Amino acid sequence: MPTIPKHGLKTPSQGQLCPPLSRRRPHSTRKKTIYRSLCLALALLVAVTVFQRSLTPGQFLQESLPPTLEPQRAQKPNRPPVNSNNFWKNPKDVATPMTMASQGPQAWDVTTTNCSANINLTHQAWFQGLEPQFRQFLFYRHCRYFPMLLNHPEKCGGDVYLLVVIKSVITQHDRREAIRQTWGRERESAGGGRGAVRTLFLLGTASKQDERMHYQQLLAYEDRLYGDILQWDFLDTFFNLTLKEIHFLKWLDIYCPHVPFIFKGDDDVFVNPTNLLEFLADRQPQENLFVGDVLQHARPIRRKDNKYYIPGALYSKASYPPYAGGGGFLMPGSLARRLHHACDTLELYPIDDVFLGMCLEVLGVQPTAHEGFKTFGISRNRNSRMNKEPCFFRAMLVVHKLLPPELLAMWGLVHSNLTCSRKLQVL
Ligand SMILES: *[C@@H]1O[C@H](CO)[C@@H](O)[C@H](O)[C@H]1NC(C)=O
Ligand SMILES: *[C@@H]1O[C@H](CO)[C@@H](O)[C@H](O)[C@H]1NC(C)=O
Ligand SMILES: *[C@@H]1O[C@H](CO)[C@@H](O)[C@H](O)[C@H]1NC(C)=O
Ligand SMILES: *[C@@H]1O[C@H](CO)[C@@H](O)[C@H](O)[C@H]1NC(C)=O
Repeated sequence: MPTIPKHGLKTPSQGQLCPPLSRRRPHSTRKKTIYRSLCLALALLVAVTVFQRSLTPGQFLQESLPPTLEPQRAQKPNRPPVNSNNFWKNPKDVATPMTMASQGPQAWDVTTTNCSANINLTHQAWFQGLEPQFRQFLFYRHCRYFPMLLNHPEKCGGDVYLLVVIKSVITQHDRREAIRQTWGRERESAGGGRGAVRTLFLLGTASKQDERMHYQQLLAYEDRLYGDILQWDFLDTFFNLTLKEIHFLKWLDIYCPHVPFIFKGDDDVFVNPTNLLEFLADRQPQENLFVGDVLQHARPIRRKDNKYYIPGALYSKASYPPYAGGGGFLMPGSLARRLHHACDTLELYPIDDVFLGMCLEVLGVQPTAHEGFKTFGISRNRNSRMNKEPCFFRAMLVVHKLLPPELLAMWGLVHSNLTCSRKLQVL
């Protein structure tokens, strides 16, 4: 049991089970401790049992929808709602003009999934020649937005300075746990009179049918404990990562439109929040800043055995627009909102970080490279000693790739009394 839930999880019997110790006869300290532990364990057991018995998965999902969703949807839209008819149009036809940016929906306005495969494609020769995963992608490419299963409209309440958002998948609870204990820990203040730092994880649904029910219940429980999960009703597959990107941007436009800065990253990276906040201290939220590990003139990979292989039929140009590796990057909230509208004018592309590069190109914004973002590893040589050197990690902003045990160990080292040479300063 990681922590005692702060909210959401009611422990109805706690009052009766464990009357405050102060009202009771004095015990020895040891007895008190044992008594307290027993009470707590019992209360948690009762709570978990009551909670599990009383809710079906359907209820889990309904409960977590924002209570205001329905009425606000009724009052709303000036903007065409994304419905089954729009799915069949070219995104250019349904995109909201940029000038309407301030008149978006007040709540998540997609409540049904009714999007069928684009069977028109089956008659086309170039399509028939594609690998199955690309055919699957193209069949559903026009399905842009899905309903929300877990939402936290309250997350940006109050004075939030930095929103940390992390792509995660339902089965990798251990990564989320390690991040919550390390770089994802929320702060009431970013220092220097700045507002809070808040963290959210972005998820779709389990990609394997047999994992779905079981993991969905666990996830709903995890969300009750921490209140930091945003989940949408699409399969969490590699080619659906771009959906995660656009769903987050749309969410931000609705629920977090005024946040000064956003850090977006993967769940297998090391982040140094102290350095991020120091870096941001000299920046303005109005800047056209998109900073990360930037690739210029990257070529689409044409080798079929590569994870990032793209057939010529899907992208025929020789190189991609400049883009930042998806492992971790920073941007102001104002730019993220403009990106949301820019991305809505483009057809989806299966590689999410390249897709964001395409959206930036629409806006005419150049991503900025920074030494401190090592989303392709500190050294490309896996065996390099640098990949295990805490002084490097202390000097960086983001480093790929660390799994939970390595992350926890490195976090401990970086926050111990290290003596590092000044040569390593990158800020
Ligand atoms: C499929 O073809 C029909 C008829 O040509 C057209 O009306 C429809 O928009 C097409 N669907 C898509 C997704 O392009
Ligand atoms: C889904 O779309 C199809 C065709 O566009 C329509 O016939 C059907 O009624 C829709 N179903 C729902 C539940 O909206
Ligand atoms: C993306 O998610 C949708 C909705 O769950 C699903 O229909 C589609 O097959 C997924 N696409 C890919 C390429 O996995
Ligand atoms: C680190 O150093 C300071 C003073 O140099 C000392 O007070 C502190 O106990 C040390 N912490 C650890 C974990 O060794």
